[in-house]
Parts: sequence; C-alpha cells; structure tokens
Amino acid sequence: MTLTHAHPALAPHGAGRFAARPAPRHLLGLEAMDRADLLRILDEAERWREAIDAREPDSRELAGITVCLGFFEASTRTRVSFELAATRLGARVVTFSVGESSTAKGETLLDTVRVLEAMRVDLFVMRHPASGAPGYIAEHLQAGVINAGDGQHEHPTQGLLDLLTLRRVWKGRFEGRRIVLVGDIAHSRVARSAIHGLTTLGAHVTVAGPPTLVPSGIAALGVTVSPALEPALEGADAVMALRLQRERMEQGLLASTGEYAREWGIDARRVRLLHEDGVVLHPGPVNRGVELSPDVVDGERSVIFDQVTNGVAVRCAVLARCARALSEAA
Ligand code: NCD
Repeated sequence: MTLTHAHPALAPHGAGRFAARPAPRHLLGLEAMDRADLLRILDEAERWREAIDAREPDSRELAGITVCLGFFEASTRTRVSFELAATRLGARVVTFSVGESSTAKGETLLDTVRVLEAMRVDLFVMRHPASGAPGYIAEHLQAGVINAGDGQHEHPTQGLLDLLTLRRVWKGRFEGRRIVLVGDIAHSRVARSAIHGLTTLGAHVTVAGPPTLVPSGIAALGVTVSPALEPALEGADAVMALRLQRERMEQGLLASTGEYAREWGIDARRVRLLHEDGVVLHPGPVNRGVELSPDVVDGERSVIFDQVTNGVAVRCAVLARCARALSEAA
C-alpha cells in the first residue's frame, strides 16, 4: 500500500469511531496485545526478514511519512535499527538524542514533541528513562507513538524481535516450550515485554537471578521463579541473559560482577544443561564475561546476531502497521 501525504491532523473529527477495530497508531507495550495481534505482526516481520535476506530494494510503503527518532537515553542498536527500518520503507527520518534536545534547556517533554508534531512528524519513536513517558505523550498527540524502551516498563519491539527469533528456532510452536530469563529482572523492560509476549503465545517462562534483582511480585505475570539457575536450565528450550542495568541500580543490590558471573553467568557448562536444540539470547549490549562467557556469545548456540537482524524486520512491520493506522484514520 502506498500512503499519501495525509496527516492525521486532517482526519475528520471522530473518524474511525465506528470502525470494527481500528488498527492502533501507537505501539506502547506487549501487555495489552492478544495472540492474534502478536502473530499478525510476527507474520509481517517474517516477510520483512525474507526481504532483507534477499537484499530486496527499499519499498515505498512509508513514502510521504516523517518518522522522528527521539532518544532521551543512550542507544546504538535500537536507534540504528529503527533508522534502517524506516529508510527501508521509504520514510523521511529525523533523529535527535538527549544532548541535542531542548528538554536539556528546560523545555517540557510534551512541548518538545508538540513542536516536532507542528513540523508534521507522523510517527514518534521514543526512548525515555521514565517509565510511561511514551504513553503520556501518546495521549496528547495525533501522531503515532512507538515505545523504543521506557524506564523499567516495556520495550515492545525488543520483545517482538525475541519472539520472531524464537519462532524461527522453535519452528513456529511456542506451546510447551520453556525459556529461562536470567539476571536483572527488576530493572529490565526487555524482561517485561518478553514475559508478556511469550506467555500470551503459550511458552512457559522461568525467571532466575540474585534475589535483590528479582521483584517479589513477578510471579503475578504468570512466570515461575527459580531460586537457583542450574535446575531451571535443565532441558530448557532457550535461555535469555539480561544485562545488569547498573545505571538503574541502587547501591548494594549486587555484591560484585565476579560473584554474579559465578552464580548467574551463562558459560559453556551451563549451556550444556539446555535441551540439545536450546539456544542463548541476549538483548545486548553484552558485558562479556559477566552475563555470558565470551565463548558462549560467539558459540553455535548463540542467536544474538540473529536477534539483531530480526530487530530490523520487526521494526519494519511495526512502522508499517502504525503508518497504516494513520492513513486509515485520515
Ligand atoms: C536494552 C535496552 O536498552 O532496554 N537494549 C536494547 O535495546 N537492545 C537492554 C539493555 O540495555 O540492557
């Protein structure tokens, strides 16, 4: 589908109100997404992954759409991945990062994005250190908002790329599969999005990590909490190691990285406890020798670089979906 220059601000008042189920122009999290919705995005992402592998030329699907990447927190892979996805779809892309933003001069977040919307930005991709920031601006804008990681809340495109990676490895079946999330669950938006997506699709999730980094209420999300790592790894179909989010940690939550690596790090011996087809994931950036031993990062069970490629495919699917919702509303 080719989108015109239609801007959502031009939509007649109340447009789409009677649509059976209008496609959402935002992607704020995976928590509210049902199975059919997740599978629809994964199917579309799968087609984008094939197009990437086949080195197909860029599409024109987002021609006339302006995408603004607003990163109020450090990022390399997520920002570049969104930029590659948006340009692959033919969008116009503008980027700003925290140091360059007027919020550093005292402007409020909402004023900053309103200024950008007045320049006719159609889609905002936002990373922010405050949980809920993308949801807050989504309530005030006509533009679509895509959460690229907010505080300790969610990182939905990361969750989707984890799902796409596992669906390919697990040959399309999530039911009956078992995955262990290990490490800093407390501060991890990656863990939250992964848990919502995986449990909705029928996989069983076990979490393990230092007690100070596993929140007490986490079982309410439908996961099993394991007090020890090795019994949880026995026969599991995957393990996802999470980065220690030191920038979000109060002092005293972690004794030392050496002790962490001994107790909770994934090395070759621990990988051998997995099911023989079990794989190792990590959202990156990896602290080599802490969450994963270097031989595991580069080993044959690691799908870390596949996750990165799938990230571009997933972001193509999400940008296209949000842009379609805008054009339907216009
Ligand atoms: C994650 C993030 O920023 O939430 N990185 C990413 O987007 N791949 C994970 C992390 O920083 O540990």
